[in-house]
Amino acid sequence: MAVQNADAAYASSLRDLAARLRPGFTLGVAAAAFQIEGALAAGGRGPSGWDAFAAKPGTIANGHSPAVACDHYNRVPEDIALMQELGIDSYRFSLSWPRIQPDGRGAVNAQGLDFYDRLIDQLLAAGISPMATLYHWDTPLPLEDSGGWMNRATAGHFADYVAAAAKRLGDRVAQWVTLNEPVSVTLNGYALGVHAPGRDLLFDALPSVHHQLLGHGLAVQALRAAGVAGAIGITNLHSPVRPATRKLTDRLLARVFDLVLNRVYSDPILLGRYPKPPAAARPWFRSLAKASDDDLRLISQPLDFYGVNYYYPVKVAAGQGPADTPAGTAEAMARVPFHLAAFPEYATTGFGWPVAPEHLGILLRELKDRYGAALPPLYITESGASFPEPEHVTGPIADGRRIDYLAHHLHQAMVSTAPGGIAHDVELLGYYVWTLMDNFEWAAGYSQRFGLVHVDFDTLKRTPKKSFYWLQALSRARKARTAEPA
Ligand code: FCB
Repeated sequence: MAVQNADAAYASSLRDLAARLRPGFTLGVAAAAFQIEGALAAGGRGPSGWDAFAAKPGTIANGHSPAVACDHYNRVPEDIALMQELGIDSYRFSLSWPRIQPDGRGAVNAQGLDFYDRLIDQLLAAGISPMATLYHWDTPLPLEDSGGWMNRATAGHFADYVAAAAKRLGDRVAQWVTLNEPVSVTLNGYALGVHAPGRDLLFDALPSVHHQLLGHGLAVQALRAAGVAGAIGITNLHSPVRPATRKLTDRLLARVFDLVLNRVYSDPILLGRYPKPPAAARPWFRSLAKASDDDLRLISQPLDFYGVNYYYPVKVAAGQGPADTPAGTAEAMARVPFHLAAFPEYATTGFGWPVAPEHLGILLRELKDRYGAALPPLYITESGASFPEPEHVTGPIADGRRIDYLAHHLHQAMVSTAPGGIAHDVELLGYYVWTLMDNFEWAAGYSQRFGLVHVDFDTLKRTPKKSFYWLQALSRARKARTAEPA
């Protein structure tokens, strides 16, 4: 049967999993412009804050450069052929703002739009539905230099760029994601300094939350005004947050961290208000408490779907500890009264992230409990894992741990949202694997390989891994099932 190339041991669980994929459920892969495109000066693209950050010594592991990345810009047909071979339904990619509007305001660069126009047409010709993320962290440098998301004006500039993208691409994109993980921009970029633009403002970074959310609200308005054909949503990172012990201080600080990581994004979007911090933590959140009703109305416009990126749960402990964060070591952690603790009970990925699929179901339950009828249908817009893998390969590498990771997370997603599951009342529309091919993993450079396809960064040769053939077999098994007579 269809399970060629996939390890035989996975065949039965694969058939079981295929049977759990409900009709119409979307299987996809996700990627981001800056991590794969390269060609940073081609076709009139302007520099981004990430270009500038990565050029500073000591910011990126091993001094790796994003200049070439996967050279996807010049290899679109080859990469779409891979996706077609993989058999996915949808591809989530991001539009590069500095490619489309090099200065971040004013003139639109037709060549930038042409690139995405061709990409979308080629996807459609290959039978793959396009999901476009409008912002995956590559702020045009002139805007970053005037404060980036710490500056309220950036939200308005973002909406202008979105209007231009919507006008040109709005007839063919199936889903629009306004922002990818605003929490990562605030936390890693402005609070801890481990991502671009490298600022370490800690809680003083919180205005960047509000400005990104305003950008989201204005973008939703711009997309609706342009009459785009596709559905509109946003993607947030969500991590269940747990206190390290039952001690009061651990519990209090875990509540605070849950606000910073999850709720200051999802509450205003879905409920139209910022969450109330515990009294002792109120001074940290004062900038958000000042948000006007008008702003909150804009931020909480109805969405067609809500995107969730799930990677790991987080454990918070009072007091100083290791300065490790999921995105890298952050010296600024020495200035906060808590640290992130390990989960010794779980295996870890190459990044050191705990492998905890059951927390995906728990997370979906928590989201539904908190937001009830205000929770739109969901997509898991990213889920995946990096593992140490060789730089050069001669054939499909046996990445069994990735297959295991994906099988367990997808199983959890399906089982928890099926009748009788812990999140049975959540409408889950699809699941996107992060990511198609190994790529530039931000501050980790090329050292964290998340791909279903191995990339040799010397030759740029793409070699599918066993996990690629596993997902292909899953997709085929499902299609064979749907073709069976009832
Ligand atoms: C997510 C990001 C994505 C990638 C994965 C591993 O937080 O959205 O770009 O870096 O993590």
